[in-house]
Amino acid sequence: MSQQTTKKTAKLTIGDRELELPLIEGSEGELAIDITSLRALTGVITYDPGFANTASCLSRITFLDGEKGILRYAGYPIEQLAQQSTFLEVSRLLIHQELPSQQELRDFEAEIERHTMLHEDLKRFFGSLPKAGHPMAICAATAGALSTFYQDVKFDDPAEQRWSAAVRLLAKMPTIAAYSFKHSKGQPFMYPRNELNYCENILHMMFSTPCEPYEPDPVVAKALDLLLILHADHEQNCSTSTVRTVGSSQANLFASVSAGISALWGQRHGGANQKVIEMLISILEGKRTAKEFMKLAKKKDSKVRLMGFGHRVYKNHDPRARILKKACDDVLERLGTRNPLLDIAKELEEIALEDDYFVERKLYPNVDFYSGIIYQALDIPIGMFTVFFALGRLPGWISQWLEFNRDPTNRITRPRQVYTGSTERDYVPVSQR
Ligand code: ACO
Repeated sequence: MSQQTTKKTAKLTIGDRELELPLIEGSEGELAIDITSLRALTGVITYDPGFANTASCLSRITFLDGEKGILRYAGYPIEQLAQQSTFLEVSRLLIHQELPSQQELRDFEAEIERHTMLHEDLKRFFGSLPKAGHPMAICAATAGALSTFYQDVKFDDPAEQRWSAAVRLLAKMPTIAAYSFKHSKGQPFMYPRNELNYCENILHMMFSTPCEPYEPDPVVAKALDLLLILHADHEQNCSTSTVRTVGSSQANLFASVSAGISALWGQRHGGANQKVIEMLISILEGKRTAKEFMKLAKKKDSKVRLMGFGHRVYKNHDPRARILKKACDDVLERLGTRNPLLDIAKELEEIALEDDYFVERKLYPNVDFYSGIIYQALDIPIGMFTVFFALGRLPGWISQWLEFNRDPTNRITRPRQVYTGSTERDYVPVSQR
């Protein structure tokens, strides 16, 4: 991976030793101290829990400025892509970092369509999992299980084989997601209909049955497409770093994505979208008023947080949340419905944006704050919210994994630690303890 050359350096003093370290400059002017030689030269390492100050890679895929609230995929502003692009075009953009020509896009869409079905044997896999199991667990397990069907796809195989894993994942994950839902309902699995577009097909596989005709609502499909675009990549977040880390051991793409789905599931990450709705419902049901809830969220020992608020990188409005807030109003209006949860969400946001606690800590609504309200309006069940996040983030995981693997200088991810346990001591046989 090439980097910008810069003459700037950083000086580091350790005891009486002074070291001059090179600076790397990104294409948007971001500076990073290159410490790759630090331990070899000094025996000292750096300490950065949560990697809040550490760039783990150079990447050409996504640019994010958390202070200014900017998000761009390969240079294209998220606002423009949200308005004008489609999820499959964005997926291809992330993978190649260039917009496709009309023919290239048609070819890509056709390639995805050809792989939407699951192997019949894999369908039986769902039957061995409890119906009440969380669909994220089912999706993670099934994504990993894909590698048993496509064992030819290995890290050190030719590029076409890596590409075929990428296409299969993009094509089959919607089917897997829909079947995880059908399994929970005890309904028959519906084969994909390839004359439908990507999001219409998801709706068809989730909501149609063999008993009666079903046509996906284009308004719903369009809203889903927007949600997927907004979630498509977010540089080195927890799940993407997990995908890169697993891939760094030369594990295949299916195994790496399966790990990414698991990482996304937690409520500090993608699982927050489910938690936001549960929080709003608890307020709607009168368990607490919005004001009481906010009071609790500010109390350290309550362990309660305002879900859908705060972000490791954004210290300003998350641009995706801005787009979604407006989309909530649009979608509800077009569907002719009202969701009282939207009013509660707006009330919470208003209180938070005026409250010193949230202002001082620069806590703003993140992508999860409004997404659940749209999912609910689209009749997506709560347990599937994070699954839709995973479907959206899939091209990001794939692009980042491919970028890592294409980099001839890549190395296995292996952070260090500062050991704080016992110093050496002698073993005492159990009979003497
Ligand atoms: N509600 C109340 N207080 C909060 C919140 C919140 N949602 N988020 C952060 N804070 C407070 C913390 O208590 C801390 O206060 P302190 O300085 O007095 O100790 C301060 O703000 C900084 O918070 P950290 O947890 O240190 O920030 P970090 O960057 O590690 O965490 C995170 C970011 C996990 C997103 C956090 O803001 C959070 O838990 N938010 C709620 C869950 C959520 O919405 N997750 C989705 C994130 S977006 C995504 O992954 C798609």
